[in-house]
Amino acid sequence: MMSDLFSVAIDGPSGAGKSTLSKRAAAEFGFVYVDTGAIYRTVGLACSRKGVDLLNEEEVAAVLSELKIDIRYDSTGLQRMILNEEDVSDQIRTPEISMCASKVSSLPTVRAFLLDMQRGFARKYSVIMDGRDIGTVVLPDASLKIYLTAAPESRAKRRFLELQEKGIETSFESVLEDIIQRDYQDTHRAIAPLKKADDAVELDTSELDFEESFRALCSIISNHKEN
Ligand code: DC
Repeated sequence: MMSDLFSVAIDGPSGAGKSTLSKRAAAEFGFVYVDTGAIYRTVGLACSRKGVDLLNEEEVAAVLSELKIDIRYDSTGLQRMILNEEDVSDQIRTPEISMCASKVSSLPTVRAFLLDMQRGFARKYSVIMDGRDIGTVVLPDASLKIYLTAAPESRAKRRFLELQEKGIETSFESVLEDIIQRDYQDTHRAIAPLKKADDAVELDTSELDFEESFRALCSIISNHKEN
């Protein structure tokens, strides 16, 4: 049976604007938005709270075995992350948890644990799913794959302003350093590294503001839906 479901896989490095753009595009096209980074962040938070070695498969696997992660959507369609019945959507956004997420996400046990959860969404709904390996591993048959990227300095500038707005104290240099380190970790890990799928459309937003990036993304999706 042919499915009417449409899936857009959006991958790219951290700070390229994937989540903000995907969220808005999902609202525009009436799709469910799945932020897979938030799921890895929730695992990172759980492991950091337990104080385990974030690169140790056995210790992290022990945390996974007693972990209950739920995704809920609030009335505005915003994805909320629930860890053992606690809403941790805000706690997972700190630079410290970003780094924890990047570390645990390099473990095969963690990736296998989250694979089914992510695929389940695309089986049920038309989705825009963003992450690092959505087009390459999670949804290799996605209706459309987009690789969203931008120069590290542009990404650091945006992330720095975002953190400032949230009142999280940090410096531009440390945000840039974090981005470069996470890029390295995300592209060099052995399993499901960040890379552009062969059949992905690349969108570089280094020189674009948010509205321009959004229009460019929507036009890629519209063109693809019509074909
Ligand atoms: O997109 P983000 O910054 O919220 O992601 C947090 C970390 O999770 C990132 O460093 C890499 C990892 N991640 C991943 O390995 N695979 C995904 N599909 C999404 C995120």
